[in-house]
Amino acid sequence: MSIYKVTTLICIVTLLKLSQEKCVDEEKACVQTKIHGMVSADCYNGNLRKIPQCLRSDVEIIDLSFNRIRKITKEEMGRYSKIKMLYLSDNLLTNLDNSTFEDLTDLITLDLSLNAIIQPPLIIFRLPSLKRLYLSQNQNINIVEAIEEAKPIASPLELLDISFNELEILPNLGILPHLLLYNISGNHIVNMKIRDIAGLCNLKKLVNTNFSAYFQSSCDCWNFQKWLRERDVTFTKIPCDITEESCSYSISEEDLQIFNDCKSRLDEINKKSNLLKIGIGAAVFIVVVLSLVIVYMLYRRRRNRKLLKEKQLNNLLNGKKESADFL
Ligand SMILES: *[C@@H]1O[C@H](CO)[C@@H](O)[C@H](O)[C@H]1NC(C)=O
Ligand SMILES: *[C@@H]1O[C@H](CO)[C@@H](O)[C@H](O)[C@H]1NC(C)=O
Ligand SMILES: *[C@@H]1O[C@H](CO)[C@@H](O)[C@H](O)[C@H]1NC(C)=O
Repeated sequence: MSIYKVTTLICIVTLLKLSQEKCVDEEKACVQTKIHGMVSADCYNGNLRKIPQCLRSDVEIIDLSFNRIRKITKEEMGRYSKIKMLYLSDNLLTNLDNSTFEDLTDLITLDLSLNAIIQPPLIIFRLPSLKRLYLSQNQNINIVEAIEEAKPIASPLELLDISFNELEILPNLGILPHLLLYNISGNHIVNMKIRDIAGLCNLKKLVNTNFSAYFQSSCDCWNFQKWLRERDVTFTKIPCDITEESCSYSISEEDLQIFNDCKSRLDEINKKSNLLKIGIGAAVFIVVVLSLVIVYMLYRRRRNRKLLKEKQLNNLLNGKKESADFL
């Protein structure tokens, strides 16, 4: 063998070994199983510094909580384009590129809590399937500015958690007709307004424990809480420095308009999903009826054939009998 060939061979073997070693480390850190029929990788507390690159590429759930990941690139995430749930809480993430999660069009849950993110990637507000977004405990996060830049939020968010972020003002979310739960616990808001929640017309729960809020006027404190009560939103009472009786309930036209715009959007969404349900129902009904008709027709054909055969047999027998009589 020439020296050239030997070198190439050594190179290939070393490369293979290196890549295997990389995967061995990852395999130690991650347990791959199936949960509710979904391919999942549990890499919790795996001492990982990067997104693992040796997991099955059809993985749908990756738990990378409690690791040491500082940076994620679009390429690293791109391997896992089927992912539905990604847990990255308690890592060392600081800045993420705008494009980091761009390809994750199936992503439903994204947990970025307990990191040091300053600028959240704007794409997370535009992911077409994202329903649950956890951004809590990122103390220096510029959530207000980021949402201002990302607006209008296009993700169908049902849960948004921005708790314990040392926020003094809440982001203006605009219209979010899907949002059911908004967690603003652990913040101390200096200028709270109905506007902050006016576009959340489907809200069921405002989580505001370990929380304080100041309002521009004392009566706004009651206006805010009455707005929530009127709409059956559960929340923790906010103490006001004036009695409720001394305030008359007043809501601005703009806030009402925002709420009503959200309601119309919600009605449209519900109408569409009802139409879809009716469509699916009708399709199933037609398939069942058609199957029954086909089964019945097959049954009749077989029965007719049998009857015909019996008749022919009878005729034959009768014929024989007749000829026997004749003889
Ligand atoms: C992300 O995009 C926004 C606006 O499009 C821009 O202001 C910001 O600098 C970008 N951030 C990064 C890290 O690329
Ligand atoms: C809201 O956030 C707090 C702090 O992050 C958390 O402990 C709590 O479980 C959250 N509540 C809900 C209902 O999500
Ligand atoms: C939240 O408040 C409860 C009681 O009011 C307290 O026991 C708890 O330590 C607080 N949590 C944080 C994280 O401040």
